[in-house]
This record gives sequence, structure tokens and C-alpha cells, in this order.
Amino acid sequence: MKEVDRILRVDHAGEFAAINIYRSQLFIARHLYQDIVPILEEMLSHEKKHFDTFDRILSSRNIRHCYALSFWAFGGATLGFLTALAGRNAIWVCTDSIESTVLHHLEWQLDFLEKHDQEVHEAVLSIKVDEQEHRDFGRSQGSNSNIYRPIFWVVKKSTEFAIWLSTKL
Ligand SMILES: [Fe+2]
Ligand SMILES: [Fe+2]
Repeated sequence: MKEVDRILRVDHAGEFAAINIYRSQLFIARHLYQDIVPILEEMLSHEKKHFDTFDRILSSRNIRHCYALSFWAFGGATLGFLTALAGRNAIWVCTDSIESTVLHHLEWQLDFLEKHDQEVHEAVLSIKVDEQEHRDFGRSQGSNSNIYRPIFWVVKKSTEFAIWLSTKL
């Protein structure tokens, strides 16, 4: 089914972006904020697992990747670098913003998949718990200060744009 293919493609691309975000944040954190390296590594390992889950289903069903996969990688890496350079709080504000946006999107997907595709429904459900954990941790560590509002907003809009774009590509 076309809609299920699209869901798989977007989620696959999103996890690829997430891997790149954490990789570049880790690169900076290893120099500037060593104390958060272990938690970032743990989150990166979740995103790799999520990526593999969707990658496996895509290949088993012979569904092509999103055409914009390298754009996601580049965008993710850039976002990771910029937020990490903006400071440790910005890393967690970024996590909170992305995961809130993604979780909103996953809710819609789960509703749809429940009626149309059990295997993919289970896959999305299995990543949801991790993403919630990431969001909650980001929210607890990030700052409520107004200085970070623009970062939250820009990351949210970029995430929404990337999701929208990938449903077209
Ligand atoms: Fe993920
Ligand atoms: Fe995540």
C-alpha cells in the first residue's frame, strides 16, 4: 500500500537524520561537555536500532529509500553541530523539540497503521517508547529560558519541513 510505503520511507529517513544529529553532537560533546557523552551514546544506539528496524522492513518489501536521504544526513549533521555549539542546554532543547514533533507525527501514523498494517504498526510502536524517553530527558535537562525559544521553534519547523518534504520524495 502506497501510504504505508511512504510512512516507512519517512521514518527510515528520520532515523538516519537522528543518527547524524547525535554523531555530530557527540563529536562536539567529546571536546566540550564530556559528562553527557554516555547519555548521547546511549541515545545514538537507540537511533541505530530504529534505523535498522525500518531498513529491514524496507528491503524485505522491496521499497525504495527516500530520494532525500543524503539531504537528511546533511541536515541532521548541521543541526547537531549548531545546537551543540550553542551549548549543552541547546542540545537538550533540540532533542525535546525534535522528539515532540516526531511523536506527534507517530501518533497519526499509529492510528493509520493499526487499521492497515500490523507489522509496521508494531515497528513504529517499538520505537515510540525510546522517543518518549528522549523527549522527557531533553525536557528535563533543557532550559525553559526564553533565550532557547527560537531554537525550539526553528528545530520544530525544520523537522516539520523535512517530514513534509520526505512524503513528497
Ligand atoms: Fe529514533
Ligand atoms: Fe530519538
